[in-house]
Amino acid sequence: MTELDGLRLDRDHERGLATITLDVPDKLNRISMLARDQLAAAFEVLGRDDGIRVIVMRGEGRAFTAGGDIQGFLDASPEVVSRLAWNVAAAERCAKPVIAALHGYAFGVGFELALACDFRIAAEGTQLALPEVGLGMIPGSGGTQRLARLIGLGRAKDVIMRRRRLDAEEALALGLVTEVVPADELDAAVTRLVEELSVLSPLALAMAKRVLNHAYDGPLALGLEVEGLAYGLLRSTHDFREGVEAFGEKRQPRFEGR
Ligand code: COA
Repeated sequence: MTELDGLRLDRDHERGLATITLDVPDKLNRISMLARDQLAAAFEVLGRDDGIRVIVMRGEGRAFTAGGDIQGFLDASPEVVSRLAWNVAAAERCAKPVIAALHGYAFGVGFELALACDFRIAAEGTQLALPEVGLGMIPGSGGTQRLARLIGLGRAKDVIMRRRRLDAEEALALGLVTEVVPADELDAAVTRLVEELSVLSPLALAMAKRVLNHAYDGPLALGLEVEGLAYGLLRSTHDFREGVEAFGEKRQPRFEGR
């Protein structure tokens, strides 16, 4: 990877934790076109890193991010902007649980990136919005589709077509975030979730994520079949046996990801 454009990637193999930090605080962590590709590459790399169990995305300074680098849109070709959903979906494709730690603003592609993560925890005062129609564009990085699937078509239209800013409490009520905490407790809340996930079987988590994401859209019968096949695959793993045996022996399981 070339030099990162407004991102930091920290890997803590002792804790099994990777942290991707959006890091252009004086521009509210605007995300450039290059940064989108780099984010996708980072998720690819982290997905294959056996020493990493959980990934956190966060923003430096007073926001998660205020969105895509607005000027940069005029330099991008129609072809490039028509494919932006692909790199933003990298968190969803990644086999590790991904947590978005939101504060300040989660606007535009920031909201869309968060939607592609598995867990969203928001600090009080966070505002979430997809304000693109005000710029003569639409949320083009998965936002129209993921938001409608998460909160329903009518509500998604209300948010997108009116450029509504949702506060953290409203986002919680809509099921867009799983937890709202005081701003100075955001890191602690994220750490709690990281620790909770880190001791679970990485194989089971990866499989649950894959089945949930892929079957969500499809017919129920097909989803149940995919679920069954995934369950069958896990049956032959060490972690499955370990989980069942540890329960019987009244001890904590030691999952090894195999
Ligand atoms: N792209 C590029 N630069 C951005 C940006 C973005 N999406 N969002 C903020 N910035 C820059 C501002 O231009 C400003 O830079 P400057 O100091 O050189 O002028 C700096 O970040 C701080 O932003 P500012 O607007 O002064 O902060 P604010 O607290 O008054 O307002 C927002 C915050 C989020 C309401 C406002 O910045 C905003 O509306 N940003 C654009 C949001 C958006 O439309 N996102 C979707 C993009 S597709």
